[in-house]
Amino acid sequence: MVAPSLPVSRLKVWDAPVRLFHWALAGLIGCAWWTGEQGMLDWHRLTGYAILTLLLFRLAWGFAGSTTARFSQFLRGPRAVAAYLAQGLFQRGTPARPGHNPAGGWSVLAMLSLLFAQVALGFFAVDVDGLESGPFAYLVDFDTGRAAAQAHHLVFNLLLALIALHVLAIAWYRLFKRENLVGAMLTGSREWTGQAPPLRFASPLLALVLVLAAGLGVWALIRFFGQA
Ligand code: HEM
Repeated sequence: MVAPSLPVSRLKVWDAPVRLFHWALAGLIGCAWWTGEQGMLDWHRLTGYAILTLLLFRLAWGFAGSTTARFSQFLRGPRAVAAYLAQGLFQRGTPARPGHNPAGGWSVLAMLSLLFAQVALGFFAVDVDGLESGPFAYLVDFDTGRAAAQAHHLVFNLLLALIALHVLAIAWYRLFKRENLVGAMLTGSREWTGQAPPLRFASPLLALVLVLAAGLGVWALIRFFGQA
């Protein structure tokens, strides 16, 4: 007897705010690298403020956003991570849950944490001749500002390593697991076999309010407490 085949449908997994956040973040990291390399420090600082705005938004969205955006949904315990690395990584087909896999979830947290650290270090960094500095470098002495600048370089390299791993994992999904994660991050939906899990999508208006609040917060921080 032939087993009845499960229904195949398209399932929306990523909301627009997460997708916009993702591609804006990737673009801004490119801008931060380029402006830093070219010594365009005014633009470099502005890019950092924009990245911080995105990070604050994503932090809030991780608690108030859609199901697949929530930290509580994708940060799983060590057993789930180990099981995924031992089996899930090598299995094809629809995963047990939509959204980030257990290992990917932690790599998202690692990327966001490193980015927070990167912005914070830039805030206190001073260049070799003391001519260019972050908005809060006036609060620390020159040596501390230099140490912050060196750590800013180091964290960027760590970030590059994580991004490389991120892109490699996506290539693994494409080539071995035959899953197009990039398509899902662009369109928001993916193929789903079987019963679609219930997902809740938060209001895009709430996302807009949170982005504006984050931007206003960053602006006020720099305007009233920073010196740049
Ligand atoms: C500067 C470079 C990048 C950074 C910092 C970055 C960061 C991130 C972060 C933080 C997430 C989690 C999204 C969320 O839950 O809010 C994510 C997911 C994702 N990123 Fe990137 N990303 C970068 C480049 C790329 C590139 C170049 C691609 C495409 C080749 C890509 C494809 C994806 C995909 C497909 C996901 C969803 C993964 C999944 O299904 O779990 N990313 N990325």
